[in-house]
Amino acid sequence: MMIPSPWRADFPAIAALQRQDQTYLDNAATTQKPQALLDALTHYYANGAANVHRAQHLPGAHATQAFEDSRLKVAQWLNAGDSGQIVFTHGATSALNLLAYGLEQQFQPGDEIVVSALEHHANLLPWQQLAQRRQLKLVILPLDADGLVDLAAAVHLIGPRTRLLAISQLSNVLGVWQPLTALLGMAKVQNALTVVDGAQGVVHGRHDVQALGCDFYVFSSHKLYGPDGLGVLYGRNAALERLQPWQFGGEMVLEANYHDSRFRPAPLGFEAGTPPIASVIGLGATLDYLARLDQDAVSAHEAALHDYLLRGLAARNGIRLLGKPQLALASFVVDGVHNADLAHLLTEQGIAVRAGHHCAMPLMKSLELAGAIRVSLALYNDSQDLERFFEALDQALELLR
Ligand code: ALA
Repeated sequence: MMIPSPWRADFPAIAALQRQDQTYLDNAATTQKPQALLDALTHYYANGAANVHRAQHLPGAHATQAFEDSRLKVAQWLNAGDSGQIVFTHGATSALNLLAYGLEQQFQPGDEIVVSALEHHANLLPWQQLAQRRQLKLVILPLDADGLVDLAAAVHLIGPRTRLLAISQLSNVLGVWQPLTALLGMAKVQNALTVVDGAQGVVHGRHDVQALGCDFYVFSSHKLYGPDGLGVLYGRNAALERLQPWQFGGEMVLEANYHDSRFRPAPLGFEAGTPPIASVIGLGATLDYLARLDQDAVSAHEAALHDYLLRGLAARNGIRLLGKPQLALASFVVDGVHNADLAHLLTEQGIAVRAGHHCAMPLMKSLELAGAIRVSLALYNDSQDLERFFEALDQALELLR
Protein backbone atom coordinates (compact mmCIF):
# COMPACT_ATOMS: atom_id res chain seq x y z
CA MET A 1 0.00 0.00 0.00
CA MET A 2 1.35 3.43 -0.96
CA ILE A 3 1.18 6.21 1.61
CA PRO A 4 1.79 9.52 -0.19
CA SER A 5 2.20 12.77 1.74
CA PRO A 6 -0.05 15.57 0.48
CA TRP A 7 2.26 18.13 2.18
CA ARG A 8 5.56 17.01 0.65
CA ALA A 9 5.70 19.78 -1.95
CA ASP A 10 5.31 22.41 0.78
CA PHE A 11 8.86 21.57 1.91
CA PRO A 12 11.31 22.47 -0.87
CA ALA A 13 14.24 20.82 0.90
CA ILE A 14 12.69 17.39 0.42
CA ALA A 15 13.01 17.65 -3.37
CA ALA A 16 16.51 19.13 -2.97
CA LEU A 17 17.55 16.24 -0.74
CA GLN A 18 16.11 13.79 -3.23
CA ARG A 19 18.24 15.36 -5.97
CA GLN A 20 21.21 14.64 -3.70
CA ASP A 21 19.97 11.03 -3.36
CA GLN A 22 19.20 11.58 0.29
CA THR A 23 16.22 10.14 2.11
CA TYR A 24 15.69 12.14 5.27
CA LEU A 25 14.46 10.08 8.21
CA ASP A 26 16.11 11.95 11.09
CA ASN A 27 13.20 14.21 11.92
CA ALA A 28 13.41 13.79 15.67
CA ALA A 29 16.79 15.52 15.43
CA THR A 30 15.51 18.36 13.28
CA THR A 31 12.93 18.91 10.57
CA GLN A 32 12.88 20.40 7.08
CA LYS A 33 11.15 23.74 6.68
CA PRO A 34 7.98 24.76 4.84
CA GLN A 35 8.11 27.35 2.05
CA ALA A 36 5.92 29.56 4.27
CA LEU A 37 8.82 29.85 6.70
CA LEU A 38 11.37 30.59 3.98
CA ASP A 39 9.07 33.33 2.65
CA ALA A 40 8.67 34.89 6.10
CA LEU A 41 12.43 34.96 6.70
CA THR A 42 13.08 36.49 3.29
CA HIS A 43 10.33 39.04 3.83
CA TYR A 44 11.74 40.08 7.21
CA TYR A 45 15.34 40.37 6.05
CA ALA A 46 14.48 41.88 2.67
CA ASN A 47 12.19 44.55 4.09
CA GLY A 48 14.28 45.86 6.94
CA ALA A 49 15.63 44.09 10.01
CA ALA A 50 15.41 45.95 13.30
CA ASN A 51 15.80 45.21 16.97
CA VAL A 52 12.68 44.68 19.05
CA HIS A 53 11.33 46.53 22.11
CA ARG A 54 14.04 49.17 21.94
CA ALA A 55 13.61 51.51 19.05
CA GLN A 56 11.18 54.36 18.36
CA HIS A 57 11.68 54.07 14.59
CA LEU A 58 9.29 52.45 12.14
CA PRO A 59 11.37 49.35 11.27
CA GLY A 60 11.70 48.71 15.01
CA ALA A 61 7.94 49.06 15.47
CA HIS A 62 7.29 46.63 12.59
CA ALA A 63 9.77 44.08 13.95
CA THR A 64 8.35 44.37 17.46
CA GLN A 65 4.81 43.94 16.18
CA ALA A 66 5.72 40.84 14.17
CA PHE A 67 7.71 39.46 17.11
CA GLU A 68 4.83 39.91 19.55
CA ASP A 69 2.33 38.56 17.00
CA SER A 70 4.42 35.39 16.97
CA ARG A 71 4.35 35.19 20.74
CA LEU A 72 0.57 35.31 20.54
CA LYS A 73 0.53 32.57 17.89
CA VAL A 74 2.68 30.33 20.09
CA ALA A 75 0.34 31.00 23.03
CA GLN A 76 -2.63 30.08 20.83
CA TRP A 77 -0.87 26.97 19.52
CA LEU A 78 -0.39 25.71 23.08
CA ASN A 79 -3.64 27.18 24.38
CA ALA A 80 -1.71 29.15 26.99
CA GLY A 81 -3.77 31.65 28.99
CA ASP A 82 -2.03 34.64 27.42
CA SER A 83 1.06 35.53 25.45
CA GLY A 84 2.82 36.85 28.58
CA GLN A 85 3.25 33.21 29.58
CA ILE A 86 5.45 32.53 26.54
CA VAL A 87 9.18 33.17 26.99
CA PHE A 88 11.49 32.88 24.00
CA THR A 89 14.83 31.19 24.63
CA HIS A 90 17.57 29.87 22.37
CA GLY A 91 16.28 26.29 22.37
CA ALA A 92 14.57 23.72 24.58
CA THR A 93 17.93 23.11 26.23
CA SER A 94 18.33 26.74 27.20
CA ALA A 95 14.71 26.81 28.43
CA LEU A 96 15.44 23.87 30.73
CA ASN A 97 18.67 25.47 31.92
CA LEU A 98 16.77 28.68 32.57
CA LEU A 99 14.42 26.69 34.79
CA ALA A 100 17.18 24.83 36.61
CA TYR A 101 19.01 28.09 37.40
CA GLY A 102 15.97 30.28 37.82
CA LEU A 103 14.28 27.95 40.30
CA GLU A 104 17.43 27.26 42.30
CA GLN A 105 16.32 29.39 45.25
CA GLN A 106 13.15 27.27 45.56
CA PHE A 107 15.12 24.30 46.89
CA GLN A 108 16.58 23.39 50.28
CA PRO A 109 19.23 20.72 50.82
CA GLY A 110 17.55 17.32 50.98
CA ASP A 111 14.69 18.29 48.65
CA GLU A 112 14.02 15.92 45.79
CA ILE A 113 13.81 16.42 42.04
CA VAL A 114 12.19 13.59 40.11
CA VAL A 115 12.96 12.73 36.49
CA SER A 116 12.44 9.56 34.49
CA ALA A 117 14.99 7.03 33.33
CA LEU A 118 14.47 7.96 29.68
CA GLU A 119 15.19 11.66 29.77
CA HIS A 120 17.19 13.33 27.03
CA HIS A 121 20.36 14.88 28.48
CA ALA A 122 18.68 18.29 28.15
CA ASN A 123 16.07 17.29 30.72
CA LEU A 124 18.48 15.41 32.96
CA LEU A 125 21.77 17.26 33.22
CA PRO A 126 20.41 20.68 34.24
CA TRP A 127 18.56 18.98 37.16
CA GLN A 128 21.49 16.73 38.00
CA GLN A 129 23.81 19.75 38.18
CA LEU A 130 21.27 21.72 40.21
CA ALA A 131 21.02 18.76 42.61
CA GLN A 132 24.80 18.81 43.01
CA ARG A 133 24.92 22.58 43.59
CA ARG A 134 22.17 22.51 46.24
CA GLN A 135 22.67 19.06 47.81
CA LEU A 136 19.34 17.83 46.49
CA LYS A 137 18.41 14.26 45.75
CA LEU A 138 17.75 13.34 42.12
CA VAL A 139 15.18 10.55 41.97
CA ILE A 140 14.91 8.46 38.81
CA LEU A 141 11.55 6.94 37.87
CA PRO A 142 12.01 3.45 36.37
CA LEU A 143 10.38 2.29 33.14
CA ASP A 144 8.32 -0.75 32.31
CA ALA A 145 9.19 -3.09 29.42
CA ASP A 146 7.27 -0.93 26.92
CA GLY A 147 9.21 2.20 27.89
CA LEU A 148 6.51 3.86 29.97
CA VAL A 149 7.25 5.24 33.40
CA ASP A 150 6.24 2.56 35.87
CA LEU A 151 3.34 4.21 37.70
CA ALA A 152 3.33 1.65 40.50
CA ALA A 153 6.91 2.64 41.30
CA ALA A 154 6.29 6.35 40.70
CA VAL A 155 3.58 6.47 43.32
CA HIS A 156 6.21 5.59 45.95
CA LEU A 157 8.98 7.75 44.50
CA ILE A 158 7.00 10.98 44.16
CA GLY A 159 6.53 11.92 47.80
CA PRO A 160 6.54 14.71 50.39
CA ARG A 161 10.19 15.66 49.65
CA THR A 162 9.48 16.01 45.93
CA ARG A 163 9.80 19.66 44.96
CA LEU A 164 9.86 19.25 41.19
CA LEU A 165 8.99 16.66 38.55
CA ALA A 166 10.59 17.04 35.09
CA ILE A 167 9.38 14.60 32.47
CA SER A 168 9.42 14.12 28.70
CA GLN A 169 6.09 14.03 26.97
CA LEU A 170 7.27 11.75 24.14
CA SER A 171 10.61 9.95 24.36
CA ASN A 172 13.13 10.80 21.62
CA VAL A 173 14.45 7.23 21.79
CA LEU A 174 11.43 5.07 22.55
CA GLY A 175 8.64 6.99 20.84
CA VAL A 176 6.37 6.42 23.81
CA TRP A 177 3.91 8.96 25.20
CA GLN A 178 4.41 9.14 28.92
CA PRO A 179 1.41 8.90 31.28
CA LEU A 180 1.57 12.59 32.02
CA THR A 181 -1.84 13.01 33.60
CA ALA A 182 -1.08 10.42 36.25
CA LEU A 183 2.45 11.66 36.89
CA LEU A 184 1.55 15.34 37.02
CA GLY A 185 -1.33 14.43 39.33
CA MET A 186 1.07 12.67 41.72
CA ALA A 187 3.40 15.67 41.72
CA LYS A 188 0.57 18.13 42.28
CA VAL A 189 -0.64 16.22 45.35
CA GLN A 190 2.82 16.94 46.79
CA ASN A 191 2.70 20.61 45.72
CA ALA A 192 5.72 19.98 43.51
CA LEU A 193 6.46 22.05 40.43
CA THR A 194 6.00 20.24 37.13
CA VAL A 195 8.07 20.64 33.97
CA VAL A 196 7.15 18.91 30.72
CA ASP A 197 9.80 18.54 28.02
CA GLY A 198 7.68 18.78 24.90
CA ALA A 199 10.58 18.77 22.43
CA GLN A 200 9.26 15.67 20.65
CA GLY A 201 5.65 15.70 21.79
CA VAL A 202 4.82 19.17 20.46
CA VAL A 203 5.49 17.98 16.90
CA HIS A 204 2.72 15.41 16.93
CA GLY A 205 -0.83 16.62 17.42
CA ARG A 206 -1.97 19.71 19.27
CA HIS A 207 -1.32 19.96 22.99
CA ASP A 208 -3.18 22.13 25.44
CA VAL A 209 -0.93 23.20 28.29
CA GLN A 210 -3.86 24.30 30.42
CA ALA A 211 -5.56 20.94 30.07
CA LEU A 212 -2.24 19.22 30.75
CA GLY A 213 -1.98 21.25 33.94
CA CYS A 214 1.82 21.49 34.03
CA ASP A 215 3.62 24.49 35.50
CA PHE A 216 6.13 24.69 32.66
CA TYR A 217 6.28 23.29 29.13
CA VAL A 218 9.28 23.65 26.83
CA PHE A 219 9.94 22.93 23.18
CA SER A 220 12.32 23.78 20.33
CA SER A 221 11.14 25.54 17.22
CA HIS A 222 13.41 23.60 14.87
CA LYS A 223 11.76 20.27 15.62
CA LEU A 224 8.35 21.77 14.86
CA TYR A 225 9.31 22.69 11.27
CA GLY A 226 10.43 26.12 12.48
CA PRO A 227 13.79 27.92 12.48
CA ASP A 228 16.61 26.89 14.77
CA GLY A 229 18.21 28.85 17.59
CA LEU A 230 14.81 29.32 19.20
CA GLY A 231 13.08 27.63 22.11
CA VAL A 232 9.83 28.25 23.91
CA LEU A 233 9.17 28.19 27.62
CA TYR A 234 5.54 28.29 28.68
CA GLY A 235 4.87 28.92 32.35
CA ARG A 236 1.74 29.33 34.43
CA ASN A 237 1.68 32.83 35.92
CA ALA A 238 2.17 31.59 39.48
CA ALA A 239 5.07 29.38 38.38
CA LEU A 240 6.75 32.17 36.38
CA GLU A 241 6.56 34.37 39.48
CA ARG A 242 8.77 31.86 41.29
CA LEU A 243 11.42 32.00 38.58
CA GLN A 244 14.45 34.28 38.95
CA PRO A 245 16.19 35.65 35.87
CA TRP A 246 19.14 33.52 34.84
CA GLN A 247 20.77 35.69 32.21
CA PHE A 248 21.20 39.41 32.55
CA GLY A 249 21.60 42.17 29.98
CA GLY A 250 19.68 44.49 27.73
CA GLU A 251 15.90 44.93 27.75
CA MET A 252 15.23 42.76 30.78
CA VAL A 253 15.63 45.56 33.33
CA LEU A 254 13.13 47.88 34.90
CA GLU A 255 15.91 49.94 36.42
CA ALA A 256 19.67 49.42 36.39
CA ASN A 257 22.13 51.02 38.81
CA TYR A 258 25.82 50.39 39.29
CA HIS A 259 25.30 48.23 42.35
CA ASP A 260 21.79 46.84 42.12
CA SER A 261 18.99 46.56 39.60
CA ARG A 262 15.35 45.63 39.25
CA PHE A 263 14.14 43.32 36.53
CA ARG A 264 11.05 42.99 34.41
CA PRO A 265 8.54 40.20 35.01
CA ALA A 266 7.97 37.48 32.38
CA PRO A 267 8.32 37.25 29.52
CA LEU A 268 10.83 40.06 28.87
CA GLY A 269 12.62 39.57 32.18
CA PHE A 270 13.83 36.23 30.86
CA GLU A 271 14.84 37.46 27.41
CA ALA A 272 18.08 39.31 28.08
CA GLY A 273 19.90 40.60 25.03
CA THR A 274 18.76 40.63 21.43
CA PRO A 275 16.46 37.66 20.90
CA PRO A 276 16.49 35.53 17.72
CA ILE A 277 14.09 37.96 16.05
CA ALA A 278 13.90 36.40 12.58
CA SER A 279 13.46 32.95 14.09
CA VAL A 280 10.60 34.13 16.29
CA ILE A 281 8.87 35.73 13.31
CA GLY A 282 9.57 32.59 11.29
CA LEU A 283 8.07 30.35 13.96
CA GLY A 284 4.91 32.44 13.79
CA ALA A 285 4.73 31.86 10.03
CA THR A 286 5.39 28.15 10.53
CA LEU A 287 2.54 27.91 13.02
CA ASP A 288 0.26 29.76 10.57
CA TYR A 289 1.18 27.12 7.99
CA LEU A 290 0.62 24.22 10.40
CA ALA A 291 -2.67 25.68 11.59
CA ARG A 292 -3.93 25.61 7.98
CA LEU A 293 -3.39 21.82 7.75
CA ASP A 294 -6.11 19.34 8.57
CA GLN A 295 -4.70 18.10 11.87
CA ASP A 296 -6.75 14.87 11.76
CA ALA A 297 -5.32 14.11 8.32
CA VAL A 298 -1.78 14.79 9.56
CA SER A 299 -2.28 12.51 12.56
CA ALA A 300 -3.76 9.76 10.38
CA HIS A 301 -0.83 10.06 7.96
CA GLU A 302 1.73 9.89 10.78
CA ALA A 303 -0.01 6.87 12.29
CA ALA A 304 -0.17 5.04 8.92
CA LEU A 305 3.49 5.73 8.21
CA HIS A 306 4.55 4.61 11.67
CA ASP A 307 2.59 1.41 11.27
CA TYR A 308 4.30 0.84 7.90
CA LEU A 309 7.67 1.34 9.57
CA LEU A 310 6.93 -1.04 12.42
CA ARG A 311 5.55 -3.72 10.09
CA GLY A 312 8.61 -3.46 7.86
CA LEU A 313 10.97 -3.82 10.80
CA ALA A 314 8.98 -6.72 12.25
CA ALA A 315 9.19 -8.54 8.90
CA ARG A 316 12.99 -8.69 9.13
CA ASN A 317 14.91 -11.19 11.22
CA GLY A 318 17.00 -10.25 14.20
CA ILE A 319 15.67 -6.71 14.62
CA ARG A 320 14.92 -5.74 18.20
CA LEU A 321 12.89 -2.61 18.89
CA LEU A 322 13.63 -0.49 21.94
CA GLY A 323 10.42 -0.25 23.95
CA LYS A 324 7.07 -0.26 22.22
CA PRO A 325 7.05 2.85 20.03
CA GLN A 326 3.61 4.41 19.66
CA LEU A 327 4.31 7.18 17.18
CA ALA A 328 6.79 9.14 15.15
CA LEU A 329 9.87 6.98 15.44
CA ALA A 330 11.36 3.57 16.10
CA SER A 331 14.77 2.78 17.55
CA PHE A 332 16.21 -0.65 17.05
CA VAL A 333 19.28 -2.82 17.29
CA VAL A 334 20.15 -5.82 15.16
CA ASP A 335 21.48 -8.94 16.84
CA GLY A 336 25.17 -9.37 16.12
CA VAL A 337 25.51 -6.02 14.28
CA HIS A 338 27.09 -2.85 15.68
CA ASN A 339 24.81 0.16 15.23
CA ALA A 340 27.72 2.31 14.00
CA ASP A 341 28.52 -0.19 11.21
CA LEU A 342 24.90 -0.32 10.16
CA ALA A 343 24.62 3.48 10.29
CA HIS A 344 27.71 3.76 8.12
CA LEU A 345 26.26 1.50 5.44
CA LEU A 346 22.90 3.28 5.55
CA THR A 347 24.67 6.63 5.19
CA GLU A 348 26.57 5.31 2.17
CA GLN A 349 23.24 4.51 0.56
CA GLY A 350 21.83 7.98 1.20
CA ILE A 351 19.65 7.13 4.18
CA ALA A 352 19.72 9.81 6.86
CA VAL A 353 18.88 8.22 10.20
CA ARG A 354 20.43 8.77 13.61
CA ALA A 355 22.63 6.21 15.36
CA GLY A 356 24.21 6.14 18.79
CA HIS A 357 22.93 7.04 22.24
CA HIS A 358 20.57 9.80 21.06
CA CYS A 359 21.60 12.09 23.94
CA ALA A 360 20.07 9.63 26.38
CA MET A 361 23.20 7.85 27.49
CA PRO A 362 21.89 6.71 30.90
CA LEU A 363 18.88 5.12 29.18
CA MET A 364 21.16 3.28 26.77
CA LYS A 365 23.34 2.09 29.63
CA SER A 366 20.29 0.84 31.51
CA LEU A 367 19.28 -1.10 28.38
CA GLU A 368 22.87 -2.39 28.19
CA LEU A 369 23.26 -1.02 24.69
CA ALA A 370 26.09 0.95 23.14
CA GLY A 371 23.59 2.62 20.85
CA ALA A 372 20.72 2.08 18.46
CA ILE A 373 19.53 3.15 15.03
CA ARG A 374 16.59 5.53 15.07
CA VAL A 375 14.24 6.16 12.16
CA SER A 376 12.07 9.22 12.79
CA LEU A 377 9.23 10.47 10.66
CA ALA A 378 7.69 13.80 9.72
CA LEU A 379 4.49 14.78 7.96
CA TYR A 380 6.30 15.11 4.59
CA ASN A 381 7.66 11.55 4.62
CA ASP A 382 5.93 8.91 2.55
CA SER A 383 6.04 5.15 2.15
CA GLN A 384 8.60 5.45 -0.65
CA ASP A 385 11.04 6.98 1.82
CA LEU A 386 10.54 3.93 4.00
CA GLU A 387 10.87 1.57 1.04
CA ARG A 388 14.24 3.16 0.22
CA PHE A 389 15.23 2.72 3.86
CA PHE A 390 14.19 -0.95 3.91
CA GLU A 391 16.05 -1.65 0.69
CA ALA A 392 19.21 -0.05 2.10
CA LEU A 393 18.73 -1.89 5.39
CA ASP A 394 18.47 -5.25 3.64
CA GLN A 395 21.60 -4.58 1.62
CA ALA A 396 23.52 -3.44 4.70
CA LEU A 397 22.46 -6.44 6.73
CA GLU A 398 23.43 -8.79 3.94
CA LEU A 399 26.96 -7.38 4.13
CA LEU A 400 27.15 -7.32 7.90
CA ARG A 401 25.69 -10.74 8.78
N1 ALA B 1 17.17 15.78 20.58
C1 ALA B 1 17.44 15.49 19.21
C2 ALA B 1 17.43 14.02 18.91
O1 ALA B 1 16.85 13.26 19.63
C3 ALA B 1 18.67 16.18 18.71
O2 ALA B 1 18.01 13.63 17.93
